[in-house]
Amino acid sequence: MELFLDTAQVDEVRRATAWGVVTGVTTNPTLMARAGGDPEEILKAIASLVPGPISAEVIATDAEGMVREGRHLASLANNIVVKVPMTPAGLEATYRLSREGIRVNVTLVFQPGQALLAARAGATFVSPFVGRLDDVGEDGIGLVADIVEIFRAQGLSTRVLAASIRHPRHVIEAARVGADIATMPMGVLEQLMRHPLTDAGLARFLADWEAARKARAGAG
Ligand code: E4P
Repeated sequence: MELFLDTAQVDEVRRATAWGVVTGVTTNPTLMARAGGDPEEILKAIASLVPGPISAEVIATDAEGMVREGRHLASLANNIVVKVPMTPAGLEATYRLSREGIRVNVTLVFQPGQALLAARAGATFVSPFVGRLDDVGEDGIGLVADIVEIFRAQGLSTRVLAASIRHPRHVIEAARVGADIATMPMGVLEQLMRHPLTDAGLARFLADWEAARKARAGAG
């Protein structure tokens, strides 16, 4: 399973790329608004840092507007993927953009039928929202598992991108059920690499090493 960063903060992307584990980035209008600055400059900067897919979401709600905006977003960098919401207009835009060779990520997917439609319309990625489903008492990872199973059974090549990831457990569960990608905030990526026993173990190794060094110096 690939790991994407869910952010519009260029400094976060720069920091995460140094670890060599991030192969793509997803943004959305909320993340863009939070980042401030010129959205197009942000997208270009992120796209130059990460060679993999960078999702940029349309703001238009009608198919014509989404297609127009999608073409423009895709022209900003070769690796930009156009993100469209799972609506009738979004499906039409997915169909039209994908036929032009523009990759589309269908977002705000909350049930398997939506994912099936998105795949049939030509989406390269579908984004089931795990955390937001859990928030309303539903089973977010169960949705990811259902979509993975359906796509495999049907031979659909659309990639399952687990989104709205809130904690490391979501990442592990998404991997376990076969998601192709999980996109996560920087905080979750950082949590994934930490464990208190790792820190305690390292402190102990270094203390033992230092004690032995001092003992050797004292003996000499
Ligand atoms: C996905 O592409 C979205 O940008 C994101 O994962 C939404 O996450 P949230 O539910 O934490 O806002």
